[in-house]
Amino acid sequence: MKKTNVLLLGSGGREHAIAWKLAQSPLLNRLFIAPGNAGTASVGTNIPLGIIDFESIKQFVLANSVDLLVVGPEEPLVKGIHDFFLNDELLKNIAVIGPQKAGAELEGSKDFAKQFMIKHGIPTAAYQTFSADTLSEGLAFLKTLNPPYVLKADGLAAGKGVLICKTIEEARKELTDMLANQKFGHASALVVIEEFLDGIELSAFAITNGKQYLVLPEAKDYKRIGEGDSGPNTGGMGSISPVPFADTEFKYKVEERIIKPTIEGLKKDGIPYQGFLFFGIMNVKGNPIVIEYNVRLGDPETESILPRITTDLLEIFLATAKGCLTDIKLEINPQTAACVMIVSGGYPGEYVKGKTVSGFENMNKSLVFHAGTSIDGADVITSGGRVIAVTSLADSISSAVSQTLESASNIKFGNSYFRTDIGRDLM
Ligand code: AMP
Ligand code: GLY
Repeated sequence: MKKTNVLLLGSGGREHAIAWKLAQSPLLNRLFIAPGNAGTASVGTNIPLGIIDFESIKQFVLANSVDLLVVGPEEPLVKGIHDFFLNDELLKNIAVIGPQKAGAELEGSKDFAKQFMIKHGIPTAAYQTFSADTLSEGLAFLKTLNPPYVLKADGLAAGKGVLICKTIEEARKELTDMLANQKFGHASALVVIEEFLDGIELSAFAITNGKQYLVLPEAKDYKRIGEGDSGPNTGGMGSISPVPFADTEFKYKVEERIIKPTIEGLKKDGIPYQGFLFFGIMNVKGNPIVIEYNVRLGDPETESILPRITTDLLEIFLATAKGCLTDIKLEINPQTAACVMIVSGGYPGEYVKGKTVSGFENMNKSLVFHAGTSIDGADVITSGGRVIAVTSLADSISSAVSQTLESASNIKFGNSYFRTDIGRDLM
């Protein structure tokens, strides 16, 4: 059988975890990662291409007989990389994991996602959307709500577009900044104001080709920088999978009320969809309510869910593209995966890059996924805020976390930091 050449786009911990898993597949021929990081270079070949440089990606794909494109982050999807492939005579038969632009709007526009959920009866917080022209109506709408106030820039804002305001004065100021003063540029040309949901968050995942789907393991992500969920939001400081409160009944509700109606809704609306669906969910008194959609896997959720999936990931991707996902018997390791992210001191504010990272030896009890790292001669150096994700599998949350913390303490670079309380709220 002809083996598959894969190009994976992205450079984070998520992409190292995807690359690590793909590299284990007997179906794989060559694995390229663009641009990748110091970790992906150990399981494939890094290619210095920009993830939205579609023309250069095309040239590379053709010159290297790539059969499958896997898109890690949302930006190329929202900018239409899958459509670019479909519209090109030479690329149109290359399979792409990641939706076309129309489906990527579920993440690319919060207003679109809210309209979609309301239309298809998918549980979500009550909301209204405002523009600069309707700012005064938006300010009046705030008065009808109780604090805290949730304001969301409609477009992609590098994870910074959601503001939770404690007081009406703060909410009024932020709404005005977003709409009248373009606080997030074009991304805040529209602002969604929604009801605050009080509960515990969880990330649920599926992979679909628009008809069939597989539900993947869920995870809990720890977003705040500080212990006890304090301080500013980050891209994610750690993750745990599975999540104890997501019992059989809760997962049944997620599948019946959210996953199935989402895929049905896409079909009814004539929106093709091939790729991951990520459901940001709030558990409100035992009922799952959607906070947001993403059209990719989560980071650092991927670093705890992929190590639990025993099934060949490349086989899953190929089945997705061929329309035979129902042939796949997804096998999941029942153990708990605990991931802790080691970050540069100062993150998510300013931080220094270029620090040498050491301590990778004797890591046989944990998995090490690189995020913001690059290669400098013989050294691994830091090149981002989130630097290294360490994941361990064990029979309980506490033993998985203990192992991860022990391994993480071996990884050293100047001014590094990680949270030691990941998973404590679930124990
Ligand atoms: P998002 O960028 O949509 O993931 O939102 C960032 C974070 O804001 C989420 O992870 C939640 O913690 C929080 N959030 C978003 N929407 C709501 C809501 N309606 N109620 C409470 N918290 C929310
Ligand atoms: N960890 C949250 C995200 O990937 O959006």
